Amino acid sequence: MSDAARAKAFGYGGDYNPEQWAPEIWREDVELMKRAGVNLVSVGIFSWARIEPRDGEFDFAWLDDVLDLLHQGGIRVDLATATASPPPWLALKHPELLPVTADGVTLSSGSRQAYCPSSPVYRHYAARLVRAIVDRYAEHPALALWHVNNEYGCHVSRCYCDASATAFRSWLEQRYSTIEALNDAWGTAFWSQHYAAFDEILPPRAAPTFKNPTQLLDFDRFSSDELLACFRAEKEIIRSRSTVPITTNFMGFFKPADYWAWAREVDIVSDDSYPDPADPLSPVYGAMQRDLMRSLGGGKPWLLMEQSPGAVNWRERNAAKRPGQMRAWSYQSIARGADGIMFFQWRQAVAGAEKFHAGMVPHSGTDTRIFREVEQLGSELAALSEREGPLGAAVPASVAVVLDWDSWWAIEQEASPTAIDYLAGVFAWYRALFAAGATVDFVRPTDDLARYAVVVVPSLFVADDAQLAALAGYAADGGTLVVGYQSAILDKDLHVRTGGYLGALQQTLGIRIEEFAPPAAPDLAALGGGEPPRLRVRGDAIGGTGSASLWAEYVRADSAEVRVVFDGGVLHGFPAVTRRRSGSGEAWYVATLLDDDALLVLLDGIMTSAGVERGPRVPGVEVVRRGRHLIAINHTDEPVEIDLPGADLLTGAGASGRTLEAQGVAIVGGLP
Ligand code: GLA
Repeated sequence: MSDAARAKAFGYGGDYNPEQWAPEIWREDVELMKRAGVNLVSVGIFSWARIEPRDGEFDFAWLDDVLDLLHQGGIRVDLATATASPPPWLALKHPELLPVTADGVTLSSGSRQAYCPSSPVYRHYAARLVRAIVDRYAEHPALALWHVNNEYGCHVSRCYCDASATAFRSWLEQRYSTIEALNDAWGTAFWSQHYAAFDEILPPRAAPTFKNPTQLLDFDRFSSDELLACFRAEKEIIRSRSTVPITTNFMGFFKPADYWAWAREVDIVSDDSYPDPADPLSPVYGAMQRDLMRSLGGGKPWLLMEQSPGAVNWRERNAAKRPGQMRAWSYQSIARGADGIMFFQWRQAVAGAEKFHAGMVPHSGTDTRIFREVEQLGSELAALSEREGPLGAAVPASVAVVLDWDSWWAIEQEASPTAIDYLAGVFAWYRALFAAGATVDFVRPTDDLARYAVVVVPSLFVADDAQLAALAGYAADGGTLVVGYQSAILDKDLHVRTGGYLGALQQTLGIRIEEFAPPAAPDLAALGGGEPPRLRVRGDAIGGTGSASLWAEYVRADSAEVRVVFDGGVLHGFPAVTRRRSGSGEAWYVATLLDDDALLVLLDGIMTSAGVERGPRVPGVEVVRRGRHLIAINHTDEPVEIDLPGADLLTGAGASGRTLEAQGVAIVGGLP
């Protein structure tokens, strides 16, 4: 660990909304924060209407008091730019900044995030507010971090208004230069869609039937870029006056924003994470989300900006967290690279749409399970910050999974071979890797893949030649490449790669795809329900027999070994999994969605032969290495026995053969 990292402490705290409370409560808040070990709070996220109650009139007196009080209490501030929710006066004065849906419905104020990201009016007023806030607080001693806006795109990620149409046209002109190039890329010879000039182009508004696929994809790319442009504009204002780090909070696997592009722009990656406590798969999904955050930052420590201390209020049924679960999930973030644990929110609200969302200080006060768990975690993190622990350390991973937003956007478009949920596919691969004890980095095909023993490529539906060459080169140079179905079907303009799909990977994998044959139930079955169609598969690489679903195809194995075949039905005997030696590495192809057990056996075998090191495997227990520490988390509601190589930093309990209680955590150090 570097000296710089050692000097820090884990961040601990949450969103603090003092504008919802009287000043007497602020004083109590600071006392309670000290008691709970809070050292960092996010302030001002939804304060625009309070800071600028009328056009151009700024009231900072209350915020001065809040920041001073926090500073006196030793609590540092993640100060928001407050641009996430324009006040009602602004929408009344400039209704043209309100967002419009694809169906032409204008969304009103009275909720939050009611603005079009491309609106020059919104951007003008937001910039003025940010300048005022930065001028006022850039030198404030409590300031630790700038929090730009909040969850960009969480409610309004795409806007179809006239301002968006104008901005979309400029974006397209930048991308294509000429209208002929756009017509080629969009394939507008089809259905009489030819454009004579950029001025004729509209956002993909509601239309009689299937829209132009490349127009849809470009609108996705444009919309992510527009939100990012809003972030960048605020960042530039801050940077011109302050050297304090800048972040904006991500939302895990968030389809509307290509976080690879976003991550380059933030000084520290921060994330909001709300897995459902009632879902038994949540610990695995949570692990996947945390691995993404670490990967977005290139392995640097990241910040868990928001999680709930208990139940949320926005699901149909909102489960409370079980005793210990909040702590277990917090250590999961730390194990996977976080250097701070924060919550939405500090004090549970008594009014407004989030009054039933848990807070660190619940409605029922401090003599409560939630507050006791908040205090316990705060004191543990303070103690852990004092000693040689995981703080600041890197998380080693020798397996990578390719994640690609273009493919996510394109594969879920209408008029496809079959309806595919991209993230569900990624999660299926991740579940198997997690169950096999591997720590996973997410990557792009053109990243430095040579660092990984195994690279898995789930449904890279859209790929350019450079990406395919990078994957092929990785296998040729000794890597183990595992490619999933529906990869390299299209190029970046969504034109088909003809002659058996796959582009350069055809040679690497030694296969061609002749025809798609996804198992489909007749449409009439939908009226009567019934099981989704399943396929049977057979082969040693999956330990005998297994089942598969969702996808199948006629694969021709030209120079690959067939390791698993479809068993029965029209695909009987056709390849389901193939393997080919490629240079000094190898390349696998998986032509269907294998069931979890079969995928686990397959990947376990592949990782074993690729020499991937893995920790102890105990069902329900997650074990992750961070720096010289091993962190074990029992996600079950029963105690489990586990051998760990050292004494627990949290409890001091001795080495090996220990019991981890339900939702229990142990951290042992001293690994080589
Ligand atoms: C998001 C927002 C918060 C709050 C929480 C509730 O993460 O950023 O303002 O609405 O959701 O879960």
